[in-house]
Amino acid sequence: MAEPLLALQGVTSGYGQIQVLWGMDLVVQPGEVVALVGSNGAGKSTLLRTISGQLGPRSGSIRFDGAEIGGARPDVVLAAGIAHVPEGRRLFRGLTVRDNLLLGAYLRTDKKAVADDLEWVLELFPILRERQRQDATTLSGGEQQMCAVGRGIMSRPRLLMIDELSLGLSPRMVEHLGDALTALNKVGQTILLVEQDVMTAFELSHRAYIIENGRVTRSGASTELAQDPAISEAYLSI
Ligand SMILES: Nc1ncnc2c1ncn2[C@@H]1O[C@H](COP(=O)(O)OP(=O)(O)OP(=O)(O)O)[C@@H](O)[C@H]1O
Ligand SMILES: [Mg+2]
Repeated sequence: MAEPLLALQGVTSGYGQIQVLWGMDLVVQPGEVVALVGSNGAGKSTLLRTISGQLGPRSGSIRFDGAEIGGARPDVVLAAGIAHVPEGRRLFRGLTVRDNLLLGAYLRTDKKAVADDLEWVLELFPILRERQRQDATTLSGGEQQMCAVGRGIMSRPRLLMIDELSLGLSPRMVEHLGDALTALNKVGQTILLVEQDVMTAFELSHRAYIIENGRVTRSGASTELAQDPAISEAYLSI
């Protein structure tokens, strides 16, 4: 098998006295969509923060494209090719949709390719084209999520990490965003997706990891996990 794009081994992490991750092993292969599923407080966001450099791992290794990135600063991780769309969207107030999107490309110097990528994002999310001069924080929740995902795409990441794609959005909006992710993946985008809604997570991903109390308790092909009654029973109601 090809070398994984991302490989975590024995990663522990937390906040001050609180340890949250207890030895996480996880791989993402190039071209895959991988989902992380687990109940509130399981450590999913902490895991993404540890990968993107907002938190340093306390032990273990995080390799990206064969190089150790564990403990690297967020801008270094972004420059290496990992974009993190955080939980809660975090768009910049006072900046237009267009400027929020362009902020995703702030490390890039290839101006022509940035303009092409902006065009691609506006094609992927046509509503953002209509709203591009509007303050991004005045968008609806679903539109803000599109803008946040679009901003992630604008760094042209080799790995796009999205925390809580569907939270608070209508089924129709979730479907629209899901279609956009599928289209992105079709052109080769590797994605690591945290998703509360297990069925959405399994539908959108090739493989998934179930996380409980900071540990991986199950992993496998999403189609197989989706058929496991123990999993649907435990997670359908969360
Ligand atoms: N900044 C912080 N300081 C201290 N503890 C934190 C901090 N952020 C998260 N935690 C704790 O870490 C644990 C894991 O939180 P995390 O946000 O990673 O969970 P999650 O799986 O993303 O949950 P959710 O589905 O609710 O988003 C929780 O017990 C939480 O209280
Ligand atoms: Mg979270």
